Amino acid sequence: MSYPYQIRSMEQYLSEYKRSVEDPEGFWGGIASHFSWHRKWDKVLDWNFTDPRVKWFSGAQLNITENCLDRHLAERGDQPAIIWEPNDPEEHFRILSYKELHFKVCQFAQALKNNGAKKGDRICIYMPMVPELAIAVLACARIGAIHSVVFGGFSAQSIADRIQDAQCNLVITSDGAHRGNKQIPLKSVIDDALVQCPSVKKVIVLTRTRVPVSMIKGRDTWWEDEIRKVETQGNPACPAETMDAEDMLFILYTSGSTGKPKGVVHTCGGYMVYTNYSFVNVFQYQPGDVYFCTADIGWITGHSYIVYGPLSAGATSLMFEGIPTYPDAGRFWDIVDKFKVNILYTAPTAIRSLMGFGLDFVKNKDLSSLKVLGTVGEPINEEAWHWYHENIGKGRCPIVDTWWQTETAGILISNMAGITPHKPAHATLPLPGVQPLLVDEKGTAIPGGDAAKDGVWFGAGKTGEPISGNLCIKFPWPAILRTTYGDHERCRQTYFATYPGLYFTGDGALRDAEGNYRITGRVDDVLNVSGHRIGTAEVENAINMHTGVVESAVVGYPHDIKGQGIYAFVIFNGDKSDETRVRQAIIQTVARIIGPIAKPDKIQLVGGLPKTRSGKIMRRILRKIAEGETHNLGDTTTLLDPAVVEEIKTGRL
Ligand code: WTA
Repeated sequence: MSYPYQIRSMEQYLSEYKRSVEDPEGFWGGIASHFSWHRKWDKVLDWNFTDPRVKWFSGAQLNITENCLDRHLAERGDQPAIIWEPNDPEEHFRILSYKELHFKVCQFAQALKNNGAKKGDRICIYMPMVPELAIAVLACARIGAIHSVVFGGFSAQSIADRIQDAQCNLVITSDGAHRGNKQIPLKSVIDDALVQCPSVKKVIVLTRTRVPVSMIKGRDTWWEDEIRKVETQGNPACPAETMDAEDMLFILYTSGSTGKPKGVVHTCGGYMVYTNYSFVNVFQYQPGDVYFCTADIGWITGHSYIVYGPLSAGATSLMFEGIPTYPDAGRFWDIVDKFKVNILYTAPTAIRSLMGFGLDFVKNKDLSSLKVLGTVGEPINEEAWHWYHENIGKGRCPIVDTWWQTETAGILISNMAGITPHKPAHATLPLPGVQPLLVDEKGTAIPGGDAAKDGVWFGAGKTGEPISGNLCIKFPWPAILRTTYGDHERCRQTYFATYPGLYFTGDGALRDAEGNYRITGRVDDVLNVSGHRIGTAEVENAINMHTGVVESAVVGYPHDIKGQGIYAFVIFNGDKSDETRVRQAIIQTVARIIGPIAKPDKIQLVGGLPKTRSGKIMRRILRKIAEGETHNLGDTTTLLDPAVVEEIKTGRL
């Protein structure tokens, strides 16, 4: 497979960018023509950011799995589609060729149909990182069912919330999961969740750890038995359901600054074109390359850059079940060495954690196959960038720092490996089709903050000093979110109402004189802990459910490895004789309500919280204290009771 739309030089990037702004429909229509469609579109783009309404490739019909599987069979049927490395290095790895993957997806798609699943159904997937997870995702897409993958680190309560919100009728899970030296009882967590979920009629359970599990008659069935049934049916060919370009492909829940997580909705056509285009261009994938993304398919990175982007490009995608530090901190490098990985895509938090273990785990590993390195999920600090560049890339691999979000579904700002320059700690330049705009608090464009107007496009800060603002995007790209499931108004409010006419990302950014963007982090009440998005309000709600808790306020603070840690200030009126126990118990409640990923790192029991006279918590002050700043707290004149602040400062952890 060649990629006629793969950009090969800086000059070409500039001209493609210009074209994408001047003629977006011609630009994306041209790229889309390289995919297989059942029917071509009537119109490339129809949009407004007021409703908002965004439709790409209206009238077109397709099935994304034909683009990820069927169309590769003739040319590369025997090439590895998925290489799977298990948690335990002693267990044998697996390789699935495109032919095998296609066969297994069709089989499982048939099994889903045998269990009553059909187009438009919502199916929840809660599985470990095994090939069957990718197979389950693709099988849903094959029959037109909408998948909602939930990351293994979420609790029963979080799963139940997500299942109820989407009214899923089927769940795919496994008995358990291996993670380092731990086993996670996935099916048991699902059982707890389903007590609250009458919409779920069927649960399909893959065997992975062989831990004993409860199987409810009529509801629960083994994956392996279902496959056997399909075999006795003679493995009927499972035709791909015809989908409209704007039919839903999946829902993925993500945290915002208020309330419950929202179900971000992506649709079939635009998502396919954009994840493929960005994959091929950012990583400069060449046929035959082995590409390893260390994310979990439970997050958007796994959806777009383990499954759909790479497979639609006919790439070889390596999936790893375990964690970077098991059996030791050299595991990633062992995998690179073992499979001769060419492209490695990981998170700054993983890099920082491995950095801490020292170079002993890197030396004696053959990393010479590496050509391109990538990072995603959070800002990368310069120290980690240089460590990655020197010790892993041996100074010869470009690093792509890819900025994007669950809502954007694909990379929007990044250098292209070896084509456009990298710059430590900078996501650098927008991809063609992406029109970022920096605005001030009022939504006024900051001079030089407009990539698509200043004539690349470059020369942003005319003065030479970087300019800074809130990052918005002023024109749709094919993979922009379409709605939040079941609540379009929430989508409008969250993303399109802060600055009318613009998509607001929630991030702050700088732009330097060369036009490079540097993402500085969230400007809303969302934390980024180890690259995972967590809403402070969500954590507060969970803490407040703990008996004895009167009120709480959660803020982020800089954390050497996680990027941000969670600091909770809690008013507790229960028995405080053993504070350590109180803290541990609160942590248990958070783990129950949200999941282990949201556990606070620090909990300070306080007598009161700093509030304004109107009763609003002054988080700005708490953030400063959590960061260790106790002198310069900014304007405190509106504070109701200054004594509270003194007490909190003294008790700081
Ligand atoms: C942050 C992950 C700096 C950002 C794909 C964004 C980044 C949030 C970068 C989205 C990066 C992601 N540099 N910050 N390269 N990539 N972020 O939805 O704050 O899990 O808004 O998507 O992660 O997180 P999400």
